[in-house]
Amino acid sequence: MSDITLHDAIFTQRAMRRLLPDPVSDEDIRYVIEAATRAPSAANGQQWAFIAVRDAALRKEIGALYLEIAARLVKPASEGGASLDEASRKVYGHAWRFAERIGDAPVHIIACMRHGVAGDDDASRESSYYGSIFPAVQNLMLAARSRGLGTVLTTLHLAEEPRFKKILAIPDKVQTVALIPLGYPDAGWKQPLRGDVDEVIHWDGWRG
Ligand SMILES: Cc1cc2nc3c(=O)[nH]c(=O)nc-3n(C[C@H](O)[C@H](O)[C@H](O)COP(=O)(O)O)c2cc1C
Repeated sequence: MSDITLHDAIFTQRAMRRLLPDPVSDEDIRYVIEAATRAPSAANGQQWAFIAVRDAALRKEIGALYLEIAARLVKPASEGGASLDEASRKVYGHAWRFAERIGDAPVHIIACMRHGVAGDDDASRESSYYGSIFPAVQNLMLAARSRGLGTVLTTLHLAEEPRFKKILAIPDKVQTVALIPLGYPDAGWKQPLRGDVDEVIHWDGWRG
C-alpha cells in the first residue's frame, strides 16, 4: 500500500526509464487502472480502455517496433541535431537508450479511447477528446508512484499505429493514445527538472 503523501508522489514523479524486469502483480496493475478510471472525462463519457500487456512475446514485438521507430525519430536527435540545446539532447539520449530495452519492462499499459477524435475542426472537441484520457493517464502514473512503481508516458508508437494495433488485435475504431511501460524502478526518485513557477503564473490576466 501507499506510504507516501500525494504531495510527495506529485513532486517526485518523473519519467522512469530504468525499470527492473521483476514482475508486477495483477493486483497492482488492476489498482493503477482503477485509479485511472477515477479521472474526469468530458460529460463523464468514460470512453477509455486500457490494455495491460504482461505476455513476454507481445512485449518483445512491441519493443522491436518501438525501437524501429525510435531509430528513425529519436536516435538522430540524441546525436545532436544542430537546433537542439544540451538539455533536450539529453532527454532524447535517455529516450533512445530506453527504446533499446522497452520490451524488457514487465508490463506495458496502453491507454485507449474507444473512438477517434470527431471529424470536425472545432478545437474544443480535440481538447475535450485528449482531455478525457490524459487525466486518467496521470492518475495511473501517480497511483503507480504511490506503490513504488515507475512509469514513463510514451507516444512514439503512434508513428506506426496500424502495425502496433495489429500486434494487440485492437479494433480499427479504437485509438491508442499512450503506451506506458510499468515496473519497479532501477533508479531513485527525485524532483524532476522544471522551470520556476513564478515564470508561468499570470495573476488576474496576462498583464502581470
Ligand atoms: C505527450 C508526451 C509524449 C511523450 N512521449 C515519449 C516517448 O515517446 N518516449 C519517451 O521516452 N518519452 C516520452 N515522453 C516522456 C517525456 O520525455 C518526459 O515526460 C519529460 O522529458 C519529462 O521527464 P521527467 O519527468 O523525468 O523530467 C512523453 C511525454 C509526454 C507528456
